[in-house]
Amino acid sequence: MSLSEAVRSAPAAWPGRALPADFLWGASSSAYQIEGASAEDGKGPSVQDVKTVPAGTPDFSVCSDHYHRWAEDIALLAELGLKSYRFSIAWTRILPEGTGAVNPAGVEFYSRLIDECLWHGIEPIVTMYHFDLPTALDARGGWADPATVDAFVEFARVLFAAYGDRVTHWLTINEQNIMTLVPHHGLGAAAGPDYPLYQANHHMLLAQARAMALCHEVLPAAKIGPAPNIALALPLEGTAEDVLCAQYLNAVRNWLYLDAAVLGRYNTLAVDHIRRAGYRLDVSDDDLRVLREGRPDFIAFNYYNTETVTYAPGETLEDADGAIHGPGRIVPNPHFATTDWNWPIDPLGFRTTLQEIHSRYGLPLMVTENGLGAYDRLEPDGTVDDGYRIDYLRDHITAMKQAIDTGVPVIGYHPWSAIDLISTHDGFLKRYGFVYVRRDNESTHDLARFRKKSFHWYRRVIASGGADLA
Ligand code: BG6
Repeated sequence: MSLSEAVRSAPAAWPGRALPADFLWGASSSAYQIEGASAEDGKGPSVQDVKTVPAGTPDFSVCSDHYHRWAEDIALLAELGLKSYRFSIAWTRILPEGTGAVNPAGVEFYSRLIDECLWHGIEPIVTMYHFDLPTALDARGGWADPATVDAFVEFARVLFAAYGDRVTHWLTINEQNIMTLVPHHGLGAAAGPDYPLYQANHHMLLAQARAMALCHEVLPAAKIGPAPNIALALPLEGTAEDVLCAQYLNAVRNWLYLDAAVLGRYNTLAVDHIRRAGYRLDVSDDDLRVLREGRPDFIAFNYYNTETVTYAPGETLEDADGAIHGPGRIVPNPHFATTDWNWPIDPLGFRTTLQEIHSRYGLPLMVTENGLGAYDRLEPDGTVDDGYRIDYLRDHITAMKQAIDTGVPVIGYHPWSAIDLISTHDGFLKRYGFVYVRRDNESTHDLARFRKKSFHWYRRVIASGGADLA
């Protein structure tokens, strides 16, 4: 029996049980991947707009054209039955230069979007920053420049003033850990070979802490949290070396970010690795005070798959005595099936990740991304048979329900993505949405929307409170 089958068949009571009525059944997107209109109505450029996109994939000027079709899209999400919609605000629509003059048209766009969600009974959940740093800030060093911390807090202040009357749940920075681990993801041109990666990361942590403190000061009823990508690191073998490498990977990939955000301190194992690997990291007492003063109300996180690691001599960081001080090589795990893009599929890992985060931090958890990237095919009759996506989501929802059953307080689940949008590396070849958008990497076609099979399935899931997963 595969792990996936084991998850599905585990506790007999579960498939039929509904989650509480206030559970946020949602879906997710990000501004630079869905909106398009990247230079319209006063929007300034972000690092996503000016980067060299992977060969054969389109730029971000059109995307899913959500900027022009937002009302149609929100109506579809209402038909889907969403209780919440997690989207991001493009920093440069609000502050085209990253700081300074506010762009009223940008403020108005998200105001309308939020109102439309609320009108349909959908709670808007706002990510403040999803990989789209303003190029004006990038040109001055991006996150390596401490002034970017002030710019982010200024941006946060504008958002809280503009939307704080209608937005309850705020997310600070999407996948800060992935930006640091895979810098080309969103750090911009400034992140060249001399970029002080962990110093910049530290500045992001300070920006996040100050934004959380500011939120509590100006919006006492609101709730705010970080949104890293958290996935447990597994040892390939049961050897002590592999377990130690996995412990380092967990520290460097996961706990560094949540320890700083929730506990206001640096994870010692992560610091050990950072220092021995030769990265600069200057942290003052005042910085630690800032970290301690900015606390989240909940933890949002994205989950796609666990990572498996093994000790690899010469690749694992070791000192002169041979003692291990870092993760080894990330390798395929023979126990897991994989997606079309070779991402491991590990629903039970979703459960263990939820349980581990809860046991470490004890805060409510919100899942802000989870999903399957696949080659979907639009049939001539307008249907898309994405049963593979339903299987993936069913297994992960089942695993989440099992975690909840053990006492983990999960408040919401937001699959990636609400509608098709541009994937980070593969353009429109790799789709995630419940709604198919008719375009491809070569042409924008008519951008018409079609409900996939998973749309009808997720609507039943939501309507039944998660009881009906068939
Ligand atoms: C997350 C990001 O890393 O994963 C999204 O927050 C991204 O922006 C998603 O699109 C899926 O990754 P990819 O590379 O398949 O688009």
